[in-house]
Amino acid sequence: MPSANCQMPRTRITHKSSNDHPGFSTRAIHTGQEADPQTGAVTVPIYATSTYVQEEIGKNKGYEYARVSNPTRDHLEKNLASLEGGVSSRVFASGMAAINAICTMYRSGDHVVCGDNLYGGVPRLFNQILAGYGIEFTYVDTSDAKSVERAIRKSTRMVYVETPTNPLMTVSDLSAISKFCRGKKVDLVVDNTFMSPYFQQPIALGASMVVHSTTKFLNGHSDGLGGVVVCTKPEQAEQLGFVQKAAGAILSPFECWLVLRGVKTLTVRMEQHDRSGRAVAEFLAKHKKVKKVYYPGLPDHPQHALARKQMTGFGSMITFETGSLQNANKMLRRVRVCSLGESLGGVETLISHPATMTHAALGEEGRKKIGITDGMVRISVGIEDVEDIIADLDQALAAI
Ligand SMILES: Cc1ncc(COP(=O)(O)O)c(C=O)c1O
Repeated sequence: MPSANCQMPRTRITHKSSNDHPGFSTRAIHTGQEADPQTGAVTVPIYATSTYVQEEIGKNKGYEYARVSNPTRDHLEKNLASLEGGVSSRVFASGMAAINAICTMYRSGDHVVCGDNLYGGVPRLFNQILAGYGIEFTYVDTSDAKSVERAIRKSTRMVYVETPTNPLMTVSDLSAISKFCRGKKVDLVVDNTFMSPYFQQPIALGASMVVHSTTKFLNGHSDGLGGVVVCTKPEQAEQLGFVQKAAGAILSPFECWLVLRGVKTLTVRMEQHDRSGRAVAEFLAKHKKVKKVYYPGLPDHPQHALARKQMTGFGSMITFETGSLQNANKMLRRVRVCSLGESLGGVETLISHPATMTHAALGEEGRKKIGITDGMVRISVGIEDVEDIIADLDQALAAI
């Protein structure tokens, strides 16, 4: 069981219910997920249609073509906006499609300040595609709010932050960053994939937009890709709705339904992910073959105090150092309960090797610059019996 080290107060201020504002879990299950008015079905129907019959020219029921809008998608967008505390949201075919959609809001000559440690696909999009369209990117350590402020120029339009970061688990102070972003009229966009809205509410801390790979904790079952942008202003949602229609990287009705189903159990899954994450982090921290553990719930994490303040749980994403590529491979070949593979946030424990998987696109130099080593292993602790996860890691580490 987790020791006192990883404990934090269980009060979840943002999750409190009142008569006119249901609590988080109630909204996860019911907002946008009301019983179907036609049949009473308790789950939102999957509207598998490409088009909608119109009564006459210009007269329809509000739906014309499925790239533009779909009722299953509308239900999901309402639900996710509510969970993040936004005014609305727009869902896309993947997390990367959602991040790309945000970037279409900017123009050649616009400048973006972003974290130097992000999911590897994000700098790949920024450097290898969007820089070619004239958007400029500056990478800084966003855990140092002052260095973010220093990097802002007249042409800066967006600060893009992942917290905690993938895979180094660095935590950035969203309240501090949002304060000067607001003053300078810069959008603060936060990737909240690792924490989910259950443990972290970036909009309440001042973010302008929140992005998720719904592929991860929101769906939670590793059975569909998706992405969402949660907006704080109607004009953002309007612009992103136009991107859905014009660029077309929308989420299919079936995959919207999978996320709608997944979020219904977000609370219970996140609670278990968090409990098991703390236990696994403490096991790894004590293991003699493990050289370092990156987990914001451990007291020696450099932003542990900030994590306690900003998040209501520590989650289940942990990175640890095995010492070398050979050691990492030796242990990864031996895991049985944990599955070796990319991705995270599913009910099953997924274990991966950032240098050759999620962060391969950064190249050796890029990884070295920010401290991603060949010996690093990242684990997304699932909700199997935690004793089995720990026993599996223990026998796999014995191979080193
Ligand atoms: C933190 C984070 N953001 C965004 C993405 C991209 O999401 P997707 O794979 O759904 O495109 C990932 C993917 O692993 C991620 O880990």
